[in-house]
Amino acid sequence: MAEPLNAGKWSPSSWRSKPILQVPDYPDQAALEKVEETLSSFPPLVFAGEARDLKARLGRVAVGDGFLLQGGDCAESFSEHHADNIRDFFKVMLQMAVVLTYAGSVPVVKVGRIAGQFAKPRSAPMEAIDGVELPSYRGDIINGIDFNEAERLPDPRRQLKAYRQSAATLNLLRAFAQGGFANLEQVHNWTLNFLENSPAAERFEEIATRITETLDFMKACGINSDNTRQLTATNFFTSHEALLLGYEQALTRIDSTTGESYATSGHFIWIGDRTRQVDHAHVEYVRGIKNPVGLKCGPSITDDDLMRLIDKLNPENEAGRLTLICRFGAEQVKEHLPRLVRKVQAEGRKVVWSCDPMHGNTIKAATGYKTRPFDLVLSEVESFFDVCQAERVHAGGVHVEMTGQNVTECIGGSNTVKEADLSARYHTHCDPRLNADQALELAFLIAERMKRDRNGQAVSEVKSA
Ligand code: TRP
Ligand code: MN
Repeated sequence: MAEPLNAGKWSPSSWRSKPILQVPDYPDQAALEKVEETLSSFPPLVFAGEARDLKARLGRVAVGDGFLLQGGDCAESFSEHHADNIRDFFKVMLQMAVVLTYAGSVPVVKVGRIAGQFAKPRSAPMEAIDGVELPSYRGDIINGIDFNEAERLPDPRRQLKAYRQSAATLNLLRAFAQGGFANLEQVHNWTLNFLENSPAAERFEEIATRITETLDFMKACGINSDNTRQLTATNFFTSHEALLLGYEQALTRIDSTTGESYATSGHFIWIGDRTRQVDHAHVEYVRGIKNPVGLKCGPSITDDDLMRLIDKLNPENEAGRLTLICRFGAEQVKEHLPRLVRKVQAEGRKVVWSCDPMHGNTIKAATGYKTRPFDLVLSEVESFFDVCQAERVHAGGVHVEMTGQNVTECIGGSNTVKEADLSARYHTHCDPRLNADQALELAFLIAERMKRDRNGQAVSEVKSA
């Protein structure tokens, strides 16, 4: 007989007895253990109550009230840990959130791929250049990106550095979100200088002006930033892929108010498409923690795989616990998303449907750069909304790789980045990201689509009434 699904007692270390993929080969096990012990003694980065708050917000998204905006670097790096980078990323997130909140008229749940997004799964464990073979780069928390032996050797001390960088990043984000920077009265100050001439930035200025007028009107009515905290602050949450399980285990804490275990390395963690085998280590770790979690779903996931994963990751069918982050590619989304949505609906499972339009649309340009055509990114998002509308589920969110820097990594967009431009400002440590202009353009597309779908729905409701 098959083993019952949740057989075996969960503990923060129970994943260690399961098969596991994507583990680095640490040359010095004793040093690794010492680092993990040190991390276990450090303060948590996030507090369980915050994770519960995020779960409750996602629970409302799951039932159709709200939209999840999740974005950030493919991989954070140690060398680009500057206040300006964090600030500029945050500005773009705020702009996107304002566009979705104002033009789309929905509450936006803001989640960064930040303050912990350091570990990367790789397609091959080794990389060969000119006959020299070295371990692949697995993210700054594991090894260095430079192609030499010393850098590529996994070094556990990097985990301590990642922890400290995450703490500092999170500290600044909290200050920005709560300390006045995100005040809606500041809406005109979030546009990055290099954006000033772009069509998306111009459209943003129009919205910003209307918001300012609305705030003036409300001020005259007695609602202002002195008496209404919702105007001056926002909630911002952190997330990353839970790939390096020793690090995650070391930062797992029991919440004293409930006795339950939480991952305290970030508010939300997800399982990647490469490590989602139902009886393997990554699923084992994630099933036992109480945070809201994500599952990346690519074309190879079967309906049956998905149901078994949902049984394991959300056995109580709690709305907000599980977000399905779909990454099929613009060509394949219409083939795979409908079957999964139907299955999940038929079984009555509560999930947030989110669209990752990045990872299924990666191509190699003739010049050798990995890139993503912005047209395909937009097309996958449109198809995602089409399918959700046809299947009558809420298109709940988007998950993007983006930056506040003026990079040339994805081709296309209104300030057209061409293939020949890629080399100009190609800075990513891993996958190509949307630049600020492309990210804002995407937000407008989504906001318009949400508005259109809602109006369309209102019309059909009137008709059938
Ligand atoms: N507090 C509300 C929210 O977070 C409104 C708000 C304040 C806001 N600052 C913001 C919305 C910045 C988007 C961006 O939704
Ligand atoms: Mn990526």
